[in-house]
Amino acid sequence: MEVIEAIHTRRSVRQFLPRKVERALLEQVILDAAWAPPPTSLQVPWTFNVVEGQERISAYGKLAKEYARAHRPEAEGWWTENPDFEVFWDAPTIIIISGPVEDCCRAGQNLMLSAHARGLGTCWVGAPMLWLRTPETKAELHIPPDVTPVSALCIGYPAHIPDAPPRGRPAIIWSH
Ligand SMILES: Cc1cc2nc3c(=O)[nH]c(=O)nc-3n(C[C@H](O)[C@H](O)[C@H](O)COP(=O)(O)O)c2cc1C
Repeated sequence: MEVIEAIHTRRSVRQFLPRKVERALLEQVILDAAWAPPPTSLQVPWTFNVVEGQERISAYGKLAKEYARAHRPEAEGWWTENPDFEVFWDAPTIIIISGPVEDCCRAGQNLMLSAHARGLGTCWVGAPMLWLRTPETKAELHIPPDVTPVSALCIGYPAHIPDAPPRGRPAIIWSH
């Protein structure tokens, strides 16, 4: 898939087929993500955690929602109060990128485009971040204690690809 096409046709996928994603494919997508430009030629201090298993991930999603509800009690009307909102939807796999914020974000965008070009769907999810950053969750998921989770992505074979939400036109300021 050509890169401009990938940028414009990638969608946030929230319905997945109940099909395990092959590890070789996940590894390839992660290696593509790690081709994001590093700030120096040194090894970027990031970690990619892969969590597999739809039922296990769904259970984690419920815990993450409970955690967010308990730690944001003032946020009436927040997504935690929406019974239809699922943290990890029905993803068979999630990938968590931990490390410096800018590096993780560059890698996350690469990961989404690579997955899309390789026939997978992704959804970047901010909802679990409070829960993911707790020492207990990091230990449970084998995230090293010295790095901070930044990007969490659902990934799997898409069952439904939604329409593109409209985009506003960005401010473009020219100097001459
Ligand atoms: C930082 C970030 C956090 C997001 N968090 C969530 C989330 O918690 N749950 C969710 O379903 N989608 C989440 N999304 C996906 C956005 O809703 C989605 O990118 C946006 O609606 C545009 O749709 P598109 O990706 O299909 O173009 C998040 C996206 C970003 C970039």
